[in-house]
Amino acid sequence: MRLVVCVISLLILVSCGSKNNSTSEDESEMDHRTGIRLKQYMVQGKKLYTTYCANCHQTDGSGLAKLYPPLAKSDYLMTDLERAACIVKYGMNGQIKVNDIEFNQPMPANDLTPIEIAEIITYVSNSWGNEAGISSTRDVSQWLKKCKN
Ligand code: HEC
Repeated sequence: MRLVVCVISLLILVSCGSKNNSTSEDESEMDHRTGIRLKQYMVQGKKLYTTYCANCHQTDGSGLAKLYPPLAKSDYLMTDLERAACIVKYGMNGQIKVNDIEFNQPMPANDLTPIEIAEIITYVSNSWGNEAGISSTRDVSQWLKKCKN
């Protein structure tokens, strides 16, 4: 009797599992979920950016004269988001060039979690003309393990 019940529930599981097997449906479902996640990251990221970054880099990401480099259309940011995640966590020192302009002021470290850093990186890399898509918490956790600090 038990065996019969097992077999029946197994059959039900299998048939339910295969119901949604058309790949295009799966893909649009994935796109939909990624889209929602991107929106959530953007909302949270904006709040965190306002608290932790806007003082220096400005609300519109334009930076401040020769003191603070821009994030809006920053070649330095957009060519290496892994490096950017490390900068957010550990800060940075030394001379850098952003869009052909030299900067050399220290940026302080931030005591933020990988989730918060993922939201901030997603926000800055998808605002003000930047367009990089989502940097997931899982990606950012991996990146942070490889920081050279
Ligand atoms: C106290 C001012 C200050 C704050 C706050 C600050 N930064 Fe920076 N940031 C700097 C400075 C100065 C540099 C350039 C460092 C250098 O010259 O070595 C920099 C560099 C950067 C860079 C690399 C250069 C570029 O423009 O692409 C990124 C990315 C960045 N900051 C992102 C952030 C983010 C995101 C936050 C918020 C979590 C933040 N910063 C908070 C001052 C600040």
